[in-house]
Amino acid sequence: MASIEKIGLFDSGLGGLTVLSALNRMLPDAAKVYYGDTLHLPYGDKSDDAIIGYSTEIVQFLKDQGCGLIVIACNSASAAAGKALEELFPELIFINVIDPVVDYLASLPAQTVGLLGTRATVRSGAYSQKLAAKNTDVQLQALATPLLVPLIEDGFLGTGIDASVLEHYLKDSTMKGITALVPGCTHYPLLEKAATSILSGVDWVDAPSIVAETVSKHWSGQRSESDAFYLSDRTDNFLRLAEKTFGMDACWELVRLAD
Ligand code: DGL
Repeated sequence: MASIEKIGLFDSGLGGLTVLSALNRMLPDAAKVYYGDTLHLPYGDKSDDAIIGYSTEIVQFLKDQGCGLIVIACNSASAAAGKALEELFPELIFINVIDPVVDYLASLPAQTVGLLGTRATVRSGAYSQKLAAKNTDVQLQALATPLLVPLIEDGFLGTGIDASVLEHYLKDSTMKGITALVPGCTHYPLLEKAATSILSGVDWVDAPSIVAETVSKHWSGQRSESDAFYLSDRTDNFLRLAEKTFGMDACWELVRLAD
């Protein structure tokens, strides 16, 4: 396996930090470069073309930083841009956040699994199509939950308002009869406590750990540098939340790639 110096990760904002946290637990010695495209948040409401455009600029930037492996730490970008990125950058290894979770779901016994995601992710049908291509009796029921990312990014986590909105979504008829729930957006693992108290008895799928496990199979390098964190727009709110939610007092550097 070729040695990878650094792992790049990107998301529209804070969400990918759930994947970064899992990676830090599993691969503490890997140097990571994180890019949060806060200028264009939320991705989930953008067209596929726009998401491909933003993602391409970010991957070029991460490649220029020396990243040989890119974690597309955003379901919306994984669904809309994953294939295009692989074609545009054949020299890089890409791990999207959908395939490892689909592989995990396909290994479960027959059941109905719920999936919450952004409009872009649910519209793509990526989870259902990839799961249907596997030999599995697991059925997927997907629901777009567009209010959740703005609530998290606006600091409503743990206020009760996040739980009320989540409860509204989980009462939707598509979620009837589910025995497990996939957070199909990298922001949503932050809602695990609220979701599992609303849907007691339903298994919460630990998507960030499943993705980190897949990444760990590709990484065989050694720490070359410290981690680096970039943003396309710097807001006090984002910096406060990164610190409050993830205990990150990292130095975020502003790098604007696309308007
Ligand atoms: N965290 C991202 C995802 O997994 C994007 C959320 C958004 O910007 O809409 O889909």
